[in-house]
Amino acid sequence: MAIRRPNVVISDDESGYDPDVLCIPNHYAEELEKVFIPHGLIMDRTERLPGDVMKEMGGHHIVALCVLKGGYTFFADLLDYIKALNRNHDKSIPMTVDFIRLKSYCNDQSTGDIKIIGGDDLSTLTGKNVLIVEDVIDTGKTMQTLLPLVKQYNLKMVRVASLLVKRTPWGVGYSPEFVGFEIPDKFVVGYTLDYNEFFQDLNHVCVISEADKVKYKA
Ligand code: IMP
Repeated sequence: MAIRRPNVVISDDESGYDPDVLCIPNHYAEELEKVFIPHGLIMDRTERLPGDVMKEMGGHHIVALCVLKGGYTFFADLLDYIKALNRNHDKSIPMTVDFIRLKSYCNDQSTGDIKIIGGDDLSTLTGKNVLIVEDVIDTGKTMQTLLPLVKQYNLKMVRVASLLVKRTPWGVGYSPEFVGFEIPDKFVVGYTLDYNEFFQDLNHVCVISEADKVKYKA
């Protein structure tokens, strides 16, 4: 039985930070409404997660499965911290990586149609402890689609780590085991989360304005 742990809860009235007081790429200078989660805080929170992951999953070979594209920066940073823990503790565990690419969003809306548009042969997951790493859980439909798919491979254990979980009224009730931040029901970008592929090259998690949504509409 998976354990639910406390995470960082960002309230609905969080005012965030003025983009002018932090470092952001110049090409987005006029566009971001506010910085919601600064990169430093993302890193501090991510550093805290591997202890929990190892406690729950550290008894057996772990395959970390990255959900592309949005999940890749969180995946890379989380794995760096897991590897640091592996190097510095008596108890360590072998870890390998796999990738899957999914797409469900157009503009800021889920199409409800989750497409697998690339990835490795998932039979390599057979018999392993699988840690799925995702950027954000919104309605939970992506995980509702992906989990049965990976479970076909007789996994020893499957757990999900997501940087963000949204408080959305439209959710299917899915909640991951390892969560970085719980956030309001707002569309966020940055730290590889994108809006129609834009804003991936931004370190902080930010909220974009309605004007930006129009500007970068697909
Ligand atoms: P769900 O299936 O509704 O839980 O949505 C999860 C997927 O939708 C994530 O993997 C993201 O690709 C995308 N997504 C959901 N919310 C956001 C957001 O605020 N910004 C960027 N992508 C998002």
